[in-house]
Formats: sequence, C-alpha cells, structure tokens
Amino acid sequence: MGLPLLLPLLLPLLLLLPPASLQGDHWAQLKARFDYGMNQPTQLSAPEGGSIRIPFFFYYSQDSGSVSNVIISWRWKHFHGDFIYKTTPRLIHNNFKNRLLLNWEEGMKNGSLQISNLRREDEGLYFCQVEMITEKYGEQEWQSIQGTELTITHNQTTILGSTTTAAATAGLGTSEDQRHSPSTEAAVGIAANELIIAIAGLILCL
Ligand SMILES: *[C@@H]1O[C@H](CO)[C@@H](O)[C@H](O)[C@H]1NC(C)=O
Ligand SMILES: *[C@@H]1O[C@H](CO)[C@@H](O)[C@H](O)[C@H]1NC(C)=O
Repeated sequence: MGLPLLLPLLLPLLLLLPPASLQGDHWAQLKARFDYGMNQPTQLSAPEGGSIRIPFFFYYSQDSGSVSNVIISWRWKHFHGDFIYKTTPRLIHNNFKNRLLLNWEEGMKNGSLQISNLRREDEGLYFCQVEMITEKYGEQEWQSIQGTELTITHNQTTILGSTTTAAATAGLGTSEDQRHSPSTEAAVGIAANELIIAIAGLILCL
C-alpha cells in the first residue's frame, strides 16, 4: 500500500544512482526477490604448456535462509556451451582429462578453476555456473554472463635456463586488467582535478 506513494519519491533518487547499485541490495529489498551475481575476470592469458587459475566469486540474497546442494559447473566457448566441469555429478570434459582442478569447498562463495598443461585449443570463453537450493527461494541457478576470455600465448624461443621461472610466474600470475583499470581511471580523474584546481588558483593569483 505504501509503495505506490513512495515510488514517485524514490524514482528520482534511483535515477541518480549508477546502474550497478540498482542490482544491489536496495532494489532487492524493494522488490523482495532473489538477487544474485557471479564475478569472474573478463580476460586472462597464460602460456601454452603452462597453467592458469580462473577465479570466481558469487553472491546471492542474504535473506535466502539455509542453502544446500551447491553445485559449481563450468561451460566453455559460449554462454550455452558444453559443460567441461561439474562438481556433482562429477564431470570432466574429455578435452580436459587430468587437467582441471577446482579450488573450492562447499560453503565458500569464491574459488578458482585451474587448467594445467594449457593447449592452443583451450583458448576461448569460460563461464562459471552455480546452482543451489535455498530455504526461502527454492532452487536457483545462475551463471556469469560475460565469462572469462582466456588467451593462450606462445612461448618465445627458449632462452637458456631462465624460462622455467618466467613461465611459472606467467602461468599462475594472472593478468586481471578489469580489476585494476577502475583505480587507474580514478587516479587519472584525481590528477585532472588537481590540475584544474591548480590552474584555477593560478588564474585567481593573476
Ligand atoms: C611453454 O612453456 C611452459 C613453461 O615452461 C612449458 O611447460 C611448455 O612445455 C612450453 N610449451 C611449448 C609449446 O614449448
Ligand atoms: C577466497 O577469497 C579469499 C579472500 O580474498 C582468498 O584468501 C581465498 O584464497 C579464496 N579462496 C579460493 C579457493 O580461491
């Protein structure tokens, strides 16, 4: 009953907020529905023959109550692509036999999929999916929309003994462009602001 009256008041406020916050807690509370998400880095790269960890982190409505039967799966190539990994029933795609390891335990909301002995054909998109049974919202299932784009780099001509260290670092030290760029942009923004203030100050002095 209070909602229609509140909406005209809330709408201008909601429009002022960046889209990301609409998906967050405010909207979920307003509509009291299941809220969820899955985060993965958008891009990673690793050398052929090396290994990579694709991290993931998921979240869901805090009022879900107790959660059970959590299943983590991975698809590749495209959003509806084949499953390459499933915790239950256990599944590992033939192309990835003995090369996949999921670092995750039930009860955790994050983890990573490790792919080792990387091949050229492994290049492409990887999507993490989670399903669970929640006390309040029943069975739920969701998946990363963008996925992670994995690029396989090719080894340079072997330079004496130094390759092992280089490859080991490159193999697991992932490059998460996404995670770092916002802070860089923010830093640039601040620098620009300071410049404007400095110029304004200069003009005032003159
Ligand atoms: C590339 O480097 C990795 C790490 O040293 C090595 O295991 C792999 O065999 C190399 N791949 C090729 C195709 O030479
Ligand atoms: C989950 O996240 C925590 C905190 O960032 C981290 O220390 C931990 O290693 C992660 N777990 C896995 C399985 O990746």
